Formats: sequence, C-alpha cells, structure tokens
Amino acid sequence: MPTPSLAELDTPAAVVDLDLVKANLRRVAAYTREHGLRWRPHTKTHKTPQFTALQLQAGADGITVATVREAEVMSTVARDVLLAYPPVGEASLARLMALPPEVHLSVALDSREVLAGLSRAARSAGRPVGVLVELDMGMRRVGVASPEEAVALAQAVRESPGLTLRGLIFYPGHLRAPQDELRPLLREQSVRLSAFIEALRTQGLAPEVVSGGSTPTLWRSHEVAGLTEIRPGINIFNDRNSVAVGACDLSECAYSVLATVVSTAVPGQAVIDAGSKALAKEEGPAPGYGVVREHPEVVVRGLSEEHGLLDLTTTPWRPRVGERVRVIPNHVCASVNLHARLHVLEGGQPVATWDVAARGW
Ligand SMILES: Cc1ncc(COP(=O)(O)O)c(C=O)c1O
Repeated sequence: MPTPSLAELDTPAAVVDLDLVKANLRRVAAYTREHGLRWRPHTKTHKTPQFTALQLQAGADGITVATVREAEVMSTVARDVLLAYPPVGEASLARLMALPPEVHLSVALDSREVLAGLSRAARSAGRPVGVLVELDMGMRRVGVASPEEAVALAQAVRESPGLTLRGLIFYPGHLRAPQDELRPLLREQSVRLSAFIEALRTQGLAPEVVSGGSTPTLWRSHEVAGLTEIRPGINIFNDRNSVAVGACDLSECAYSVLATVVSTAVPGQAVIDAGSKALAKEEGPAPGYGVVREHPEVVVRGLSEEHGLLDLTTTPWRPRVGERVRVIPNHVCASVNLHARLHVLEGGQPVATWDVAARGW
C-alpha cells in the first residue's frame, strides 16, 4: 500500500519529523563527546525499536528501559540494556533472564529484596547481570538516601552470586528549572553525589558507572561532578515542557499530533479532534496542555477525551472547520504511549509508519 501524503492521513495521528530527530541526536552525541560522558538514552519516550536503532547509529553507548516489555522489544536492536526500574516478581524476572544471551543487562535497585530475587534468577539462568545502586538525590521516588545505605547495599551486591556491581544511578526528575537557574541546583547535586562516591571508594567499592541525567538538565550534565553517563529520554523528540525550561526550542520539537478542526461554533475557540486520548492530559510549567506548531501563540486550553479546545483569544488566526494543525503536547512520552503507530516524515511528508511496539507491559 502506498504511504499516504500528510493531507491524506486520517486524524488524529502522531507524526515525527525524522530530520529534526536526527538533528536532536547529532546535538546530544556532540555534547556527550565534548564532555567525555557516555550516552544511554531512555527509550520509554518513543517505545519504538527503529528510533532506538537511530540512537545507536548516532553514537549512543547503550540504552535505558523502564519496563520488561521495553527490554524485550529493544533487545532486538540493542546489545547493552539498562533496566532503570526495580524488577519484582518471578514473572518479570523470568522474562528478563530470557532476553537474548548476547544482551549485556544491567539493573537499578535500592533494596535487599530486589537484590535477592535478581541474584537467585541470574544464578539459576546462568546469566551475568550488572547492578547499579539507586540513590535518592532529592526526587523522593526511589533510591537510598544516605552514603551508609549505599555502601551497605553495594557490599551486598558484591556478595551476591551471579551479579556484578557496576556503580551508582539516580534520576534528577525534580530539577525542572529554567536553564539559568540550574547552576546552584547542579552544584548541590555534585556535593551530594561526591559524598556517595567517596563513601563507596573508601570501602574499595569505587563505582565504575555513575549514571544520571534528564532532558531538563541535559546540556548542563557536565556540571555534575562524578557523572559518567546520562540518560535523556524526551530529548529525541522534545516537547512543550522541555521548551518551557529552555532545554530546547519549539523548532526542535520533532513530535506532534496532527489534528483537524471540527468545530468553531463557540466564540473564542476552535475544537480539534485530538483530545486527552491523543495528546495526554498532562499539566506542565505553562498553562494548558499543548501548543499549535503553526501558531505558537495558540494554546490547547482544555481537553476532553476526543475534543481539544484551542484558545483563539490570543491570536488573529481564525481557523475553518476542516483545517489541520499540528499540536506539540506538554509531555511527549505520555502522548506517544497513546498511539499504536508513529507516522515518520521526511521533508514534511510521510515516508514510513512505525509501530510503537513496546507499549504495554
Ligand atoms: C530513571 C529515568 N531515567 C531517565 C529518564 C529520562 O529523563 P527525561 O524524561 O527528562 O528525558 C527518566 C524519565 O522519566 C527516568 O525515569
């Protein structure tokens, strides 16, 4: 079947500009090379093995996943996989151990319970698994809080058959400040991180890997002393939230939801056929749920399941019913996850359709 043109695509449809993706990847590859950092992009943003392959071609050293499903799907193209999520339960562990034997697997964990289960599974499968001890650097989601706990857990990893201690991991997801406000926050991270690294070193457990990073802090990662590796996810596509903190420009947003105006009956607004089931109803630093790419002054001010409400009070633009727009959502990962496939554009026209194969669990 021939690929439909952009005008022929039924809406709502998730579309990705491949030219922008490649530029985003080139930029992060150059940055990590310049600063001697390893690059392990988080593939939860796109959940699509073809994009993982592009990241590896662009110079990524390995990849990150959040779910066993992502690990399974991405293992078809990647040979170095970090599960940045504690695996709990026999079913998950059995699936992890069944990944292709040539895949180097590492796992992040913060408890003895997860460690014991992983060690048992690795030993009985005869599969080497690397372990990163997860730190809480202020996000208060997962991770041990003190250097003493990190040392104790690292020692326990050392004593666990089937496992190899690789180092430390944390996620600074609480740092969502504009770029010019990041410096003192990253200095504080450096001080905190140094205490963990030093505590491990003095016990003969010097971490070979210190894995951190996010999209909002991406371009300032080199300011975090001791970091060896970064795991940006969103950066491949970027989104409105990344624009809001200055991590990218609107022109660097590669993902959007193509939508059609279906009503202009209520004054001051236009309704599009992309609602919360296409864009995702995620709050961000800026009001609303997304922005119109062609008219960046126009914000999606409300969403119901299949209706998106464009605020026209800020623009002279008066769309007609049937007109099409592309909306950049606040949080791209949540929007991608709602779509079964991504329409890949080159030179502004669809050239391929890729399944978002790692959705679900
Ligand atoms: C553990 C972990 N690492 C890396 C990332 C990627 O960060 P970002 O989404 O800011 O690109 C995430 C995002 O949720 C994460 O949870």
